[in-house]
Amino acid sequence: MTTHKLLLLPGDGIGPEVMAEVKRLIDWLNAQGIAKFETETGLVGGCSYDADKVAITDKTVALAKAADAIILGAVGGPKWDPVPFDVRPEAGLLRLRKDLELFANLRPAICYPALADSSSLKREIVEGLDLMIVRELTGGVYFGEPKEITDLGNGQKRAVDTQVYETYEIERIARVAFELARKRRNKVTSMEKRNVMKSGLLWNEVVTRVHANEYKDVELEHQLADSGGMQLVRRPKQFDVIVTDNLFGDVLSDIAAMLTGSLGMLPSASLGAVDAKTGKRSALYEPVHGSAPDIAGKGLANPVAMLTSFGMALRYSFDMGKLADSIDKAIANVLDQGIRTGDIKSEGSKVVSTTQMGEAILKEIQKLHA
Ligand code: IPM
Ligand code: MN
Repeated sequence: MTTHKLLLLPGDGIGPEVMAEVKRLIDWLNAQGIAKFETETGLVGGCSYDADKVAITDKTVALAKAADAIILGAVGGPKWDPVPFDVRPEAGLLRLRKDLELFANLRPAICYPALADSSSLKREIVEGLDLMIVRELTGGVYFGEPKEITDLGNGQKRAVDTQVYETYEIERIARVAFELARKRRNKVTSMEKRNVMKSGLLWNEVVTRVHANEYKDVELEHQLADSGGMQLVRRPKQFDVIVTDNLFGDVLSDIAAMLTGSLGMLPSASLGAVDAKTGKRSALYEPVHGSAPDIAGKGLANPVAMLTSFGMALRYSFDMGKLADSIDKAIANVLDQGIRTGDIKSEGSKVVSTTQMGEAILKEIQKLHA
């Protein structure tokens, strides 16, 4: 059996609490001989700043590069509001994305039937929802230069962020979206703001060309990103794969998360290109929910997104789709039993802690493997 090297980066806030539930699952998989994972743990975000005055150390980045996959909890919190911009917790995550060239961020939004009533939208709008947001992750306004605040000397300042995309960046993310669509319902919706942004114009042009040259069999549709956001809450089931830039993807994926009942439900995978020689690709898996400092340390966090993020690692890095399916099934079963963390509670449900939720899900996985 192949040994897979995982780097666990629990991070800040609820990160360590939800990561503990993944660790519980990994330990069980190892003990049962179902898989062989070797784990190392490192610091990223505010906890790294506290220890080393940087959001991530070179040593941890080296560990990340050497790992077969990185499993990350969350970074950030008000505690680090005063720290300098370039060492703020988020900088650690952004460096990992950039240094490992994790350009493709996959954010599936699936509404479990049992949770349709937890969404802020009506049941019939979200029930059975299954869409995938493909967010470009290493370009755009997140990394574009110049990025600065200049003092104009007259009591005024000027802040600049730069939205920039080159053809190859749009081509490669478009291909990821089209390839995924082929394995799903064969439809891609590309979102940009070509009506105001030059980068939107190029985005539209390149996606259209890649489609015409390589993916004619896939249905392609273009929506302006603002109207796309509206459509996401109006009729989300019209979407299969949505492909969009870094900033729009950040916003639209938070919206999509809420469709599923709670931000605590949405996992993500950040993938690099497949290495032609080794067939391997860098990959980082993290929940979309962030560090939730308001509930950190209280055992209230929902571990589902963290567990399904690990499920995505099984699927996309280790070719263990069946095992990932059984995690999904176990979660659905637990939700059907009315076992819920506070964020997804509904009438008659049993509200449990992070640990109890993790244990309940593991118990269901064990049943499925008995
Ligand atoms: C996300 C987060 C990050 C982002 C932050 C923490 C830098 O919101 O992964 O969606 O903006 O990309
Ligand atoms: Mn975000």
